[in-house]
Amino acid sequence: MTLLIAIDGPAASGKGTLARRLATHYGLPHLDTGLTYRAVAKAMIDAGSDLDDEAAAIATARNVDFSRLDRSALSAHAIGEAASRIAVYPEVRRTLVAKQREFAAQPDGAVLDGRDIGTVVCPDATVKLYVAASPEVRARRRLDEILHNGGQADPAAILADVKRRDERDTGRADSPLRPAADAHLLDTSDMDIEAAFRAALAIVETARNA
Ligand code: C5P
Repeated sequence: MTLLIAIDGPAASGKGTLARRLATHYGLPHLDTGLTYRAVAKAMIDAGSDLDDEAAAIATARNVDFSRLDRSALSAHAIGEAASRIAVYPEVRRTLVAKQREFAAQPDGAVLDGRDIGTVVCPDATVKLYVAASPEVRARRRLDEILHNGGQADPAAILADVKRRDERDTGRADSPLRPAADAHLLDTSDMDIEAAFRAALAIVETARNA
């Protein structure tokens, strides 16, 4: 039986970690679709292109190779910020969504995470999760991660940044971030990753056996 798991949520909600854990648990391939937008942004930055140049963003999106998405090379904060700027272009989205759907169409299924998986990319997914957490909790998690990696950051700047990204992702005209009507909401504000994983697994198991 095919098991297609769609996971959406705002930046730093923990959806990526949950997606990876679920993919490992079920032995399914996983695509972090944020990396596909990040890859477009990074290629443009490397080429010296202006992120406001829509035609350049479209051409770059057509050339993104999904088999070469390198998480560590794409993880920089500035790349995430740039990704949310090029993610507003409808033709960039159409191009990446077509490739994401190809990835999703594997015989045993797949796990995809992003902002529009349950609403646009995989509307017929077996199960849809919408992972939420308050902006304060998400900013705190990001700060902890930066400190853990030996970096430094201003907590107020991180919170402002989380809120700005939320505004851009929920406010854009094409495929704004929002829960699908049939998504299961999982608020992880008061959960650690183990508790969140157990809760996510329970939701998937129920849907799978339905
Ligand atoms: O999840 P991540 O932080 O890597 O995503 C970077 C940006 O890419 C997001 O802020 C969002 O603007 C965009 N994105 C999107 N649709 C997706 C995944 C990411 O618009 N499915």
